[in-house]
Amino acid sequence: MTPEYNYSIPGVLKNAIDWASRPYGDNAWNAKPAAIMGASMGAFGTARAQYHLRQVFVTLNIFSINQPEVLIGNAHEKFDQNGNLTDETTRKFIRQQLGNLVEWTRRLKQV
Ligand SMILES: Cc1cc2nc3c(=O)[nH]c(=O)nc-3n(C[C@H](O)[C@H](O)[C@H](O)COP(=O)(O)O)c2cc1C
Repeated sequence: MTPEYNYSIPGVLKNAIDWASRPYGDNAWNAKPAAIMGASMGAFGTARAQYHLRQVFVTLNIFSINQPEVLIGNAHEKFDQNGNLTDETTRKFIRQQLGNLVEWTRRLKQV
């Protein structure tokens, strides 16, 4: 789950990813399954940050699912005051993505 900072992922997220990828030859991310989702107050819902993250996943050898993309735009209108997600369409996409991630993880384990 990522917000978007200046059309990319926040520096703190990148820093965490980088630390876990070293020392060279001991990349903790290697061959791990993943799903990307993000929320921002803008209309594009972190699309640009998510594509940067996918690019980073290539060198980390993270196997990320492609569909569905979860791009939560206008996020300030989709959560209540307690932080609960109230937008039904968004909830549907997240449910679908997590279901696909479970299926993908099971398939990777068989390889
Ligand atoms: C330095 C900075 C850059 C940002 N750039 C973008 C951006 O490019 N696109 C966007 O949709 N939101 C942008 N935002 C808004 C963040 O996506 C939004 O604040 C998000 O909820 C981050 O939460 P946080 O600042 O509490 O970590 C930016 C926020 C900051 C602080």
